[in-house]
Amino acid sequence: MEKILKKAVGKLAYVRSFGCQLNMSDGEKIKSILENIGCVLTDDESRADIIILNTCAVRESAEDRVFGIIGSMKKLKEEKPSLIIGVAGCMVQQEQNVEKIKKSYPQVSFAVGTSALDSIPKLIEESLESTKFVSDTEEYSNFCMGGHQVRDSSFKASVPIMYGCNNFCTYCIVPYVRGRERSRSPEEIVSEVRELVRSGYKEIMLLGQNVNSYGNYFEEECSEKIDFPKLLHMIDSLEGEFVIRFMSSHPKDVSPELIDAIFECPKVAKHLHLPLQSGSNDVLDRMNRKYTVEKYLRIVDEIRRRSPDFSLTTDIIVGFPDETEQDFGATLDVLKRVEYDNVYSFIYSKRSGTKACDMPDGTTEQRKSERMRELLELQREISTRHYKRFIGRTMRVLVDGVSKKREGFVTGKSNEFIIVEFEGDKSLIGQFVNVKITDSMNWAVTGEMIL
Ligand code: SAH
Ligand code: SF4
Ligand code: F3S
Repeated sequence: MEKILKKAVGKLAYVRSFGCQLNMSDGEKIKSILENIGCVLTDDESRADIIILNTCAVRESAEDRVFGIIGSMKKLKEEKPSLIIGVAGCMVQQEQNVEKIKKSYPQVSFAVGTSALDSIPKLIEESLESTKFVSDTEEYSNFCMGGHQVRDSSFKASVPIMYGCNNFCTYCIVPYVRGRERSRSPEEIVSEVRELVRSGYKEIMLLGQNVNSYGNYFEEECSEKIDFPKLLHMIDSLEGEFVIRFMSSHPKDVSPELIDAIFECPKVAKHLHLPLQSGSNDVLDRMNRKYTVEKYLRIVDEIRRRSPDFSLTTDIIVGFPDETEQDFGATLDVLKRVEYDNVYSFIYSKRSGTKACDMPDGTTEQRKSERMRELLELQREISTRHYKRFIGRTMRVLVDGVSKKREGFVTGKSNEFIIVEFEGDKSLIGQFVNVKITDSMNWAVTGEMIL
C-alpha cells in the first residue's frame, strides 16, 4: 500500500478512463492509489489539482479523441500552472505516443504505462518538484495492488482475473500495449469476490481479454490447476445473492466444460458475449482468430439446444483489409442465423505495429461506412423482432439508474443483459426486482415491477 505523500495531501484529483472495462478497472486502481497517498477525488475536472487521463489505443478514433482532450487542457494549465496532468493507459505503451506528448503537449507532466501504476506516487512527487516531463512505461510483473480500493459503483464490481493477451489477432493492438497473458491466483480472486458480496455487491463482472484461457499462465506457482469453468464453480458456490458475468470469451477456447458451467452454476448470467468479428472463414483466417464459422456456430447450436432463446451478444469488425462483398454478406448471414440480442460493431481501424496494418486494402472508406449502416439496420430489425420474446415474461432485474428518457422510470439489466425500463424511483438502484415485461423496443424492454 502506498505511503501518504505529504505534498499531495488534500489535492483534488480527477481520473477519466476510456476504452474497455479492464481499463475502467485500472481507473479504479489509479483512484485508489491517489486516495491512498492523500488526494481527494473529485468529479469536477475544472477544480482538480491533478488530472489523470487513462487512455485506450484500440482504434484511431479513441486516440484522436484523447489528443483532442489533452490539447484542450492547455487552457486549464495556463489558468492554473500548478495543475498536474498525467496520461496513463494503453496509449502510452506506444513509444510514438509518448514522444508526441512530450514534444507537442507541454501541459502534460507525466506518462505512466499500464503495468507501472505503482509508480504514480513517484511521478506525482517529481512533477510537483519540477516541470520536466517524466514517464514510466516499464513492464512490471507486480500488477496486483493491496490496500484500500476505490470502486465506481456500490453494487456492481469488476474483478480482473487475468491481464494481457497472447492471441495476436492481426488487427489488434491489445497484446502490444497490455503485454503477455497472466492470471491472478484463484484464491485471491475468490477472496476478493467474497469480500465484495459481503459488502453488498450484487453483480460481479470477471474480466480478461480472453477469460477462457484463464489459468494457462499463473503469476505464481499454483498447487492445483484451476481453469475458468472451475473458477466459475468456485465463485458460484459463495454465499449470497449476486450475479456473475464475464468478458470476453474467445470462441477458439470455448470448451464443453465452460458451457456446462454456465448452465450448472445458478449465479452465472444466462448470457454470453462471444465476439465473432467476421462471418467469413477467409477473413477469420487473415485475422488469426483460429476458429471457423462452423466451429462458432456449433458452440451457438449447443447453447441454444440447451436453452433455445439464450442471450448472445457479439463484436463485429466491418471493413477488415480487402473484405469482399461476399465476406461481408457472410457476416450478415451469421447475424440472421444467430439472432444476437446486441451487436457491437466497429469499422476496422489501422493500428501501426499490427500485422493487418501492412495488408493491402482495396475497399473505400465510403463503402465501409455503407456496410456498417447495412449491418446496423439489419441488427435493428433483428433486435426489434427478437426482444418480443420477452413480452409476458417476468425478468429479474438489477436496477442501475434512473431513465434518462422518461421521468419516473428506472433502468436496469436483466440476467440476460437486456436493458429493462419500468416505473420506479431511485431508491431501487442497486436492488434486484422482478419486472413483468409488457412491451419491447429495439434497444430495451419495458414492463411493470411486481412484488
Ligand atoms: N479481447 C476481446 C476484445 C478486446 S477489443 C476479444 O477478443 O473479444 C474489443 C473489440 O474491439 C474487439 O472485439 C474488436 O471487435 C474491436 N477491435 C479491436 N481492434 C480493432 C481495430 N483495429 N479496428 C476496429 N475494431 C477493433
Ligand atoms: Fe485483441 Fe484478439 Fe487479444 Fe481480443 S483476443 S484482445 S481481439 S488480440
Ligand atoms: Fe483499449 Fe487498452 Fe482496453 S487498447 S480496449 S483500453 S486493453
